[in-house]
Amino acid sequence: MIRIGVLVSGSGSNLQSIMDACAAGEIDGTVVMVISNVEGVYALERAERGGIPSRVISHADYPDREAFDAELAKALLECRVDLVCLAGFMRVLTPSFLRTFPGRVMNIHPALLPSFPGLHVRQKAIDYGVRFSGCTVHFVDEGVDTGPIIIQAVVPVYPQDTEEELKERILRLEHRIYPKAIGLFSQGRLSIDGRRVVVRGLAKDETACLINPPLGL
Ligand code: GAR
Repeated sequence: MIRIGVLVSGSGSNLQSIMDACAAGEIDGTVVMVISNVEGVYALERAERGGIPSRVISHADYPDREAFDAELAKALLECRVDLVCLAGFMRVLTPSFLRTFPGRVMNIHPALLPSFPGLHVRQKAIDYGVRFSGCTVHFVDEGVDTGPIIIQAVVPVYPQDTEEELKERILRLEHRIYPKAIGLFSQGRLSIDGRRVVVRGLAKDETACLINPPLGL
C-alpha cells in the first residue's frame, strides 16, 4: 500500500481520477495529502469531499523557489509519502526537491512528449497541424517535461478542432492513464533504466497502429 501526495494548482480532475482509482482498488495505495500552491481551487474541494487532508502552500509567500520547495518537501516528508504526483501543478520543481524523492515524482502532461513541452500545448499541436496528440505520464527530472516516460495515450487532432475540444479529448485519456501509471508503480512493476522506464509484463503487439486520416477515407 503506497502513500501518495498529490500537488495541484487547479480543477483537480486528475486528482479525482487518482482518488477514485485508489477507492476502486486499481491503485494499491491511498492519497494521504493534497497540496495546492493556489488558494480556493476546486481541487481542494475535491480533497475535502474525499476526506483527504489538504494544505495550501503558496509560492507567493516564499522568497525563492528553493524556500518554497523546501516547505513542500517538508510537508510531504511529514506525511511519509512514497510517491509524489503532480496533477495540474503549474510550478517547476527544484533539483533539491527532486533529490528528496528520487525516482518517486510523476507528472502528467497534455501532449505526446517530447513534442510540445511547456505551456499552451493543445493550441500548439493544432497550430502545428499534427494528426495526433495525446498525453504522457513521466517521472520528473530536472528539465521541463523531459523525464523518463511511463505511459502515453494518443488521440486524433483535426484541423477544425478548438483548443477546448482537444483539451477535453485529451483529458478523458489523462483520467485513464494517470491511475494506470500509479497502479503499475504501486505494484512495483516500473523500473527506470537511464532514459527508459521498463514496465514488467509488457508484451509487444506488432499489429497495433493508428492512422489519421484513416486509410478507408
Ligand atoms: C491537465 O490537462 C494536465 O495534463 C495539465 O493541466 C491540466 C490539469 O487539469 N498539466 C500541465 O499542463 C502541466 N504542465 P486538472 O487540474 O483537472 O487535473
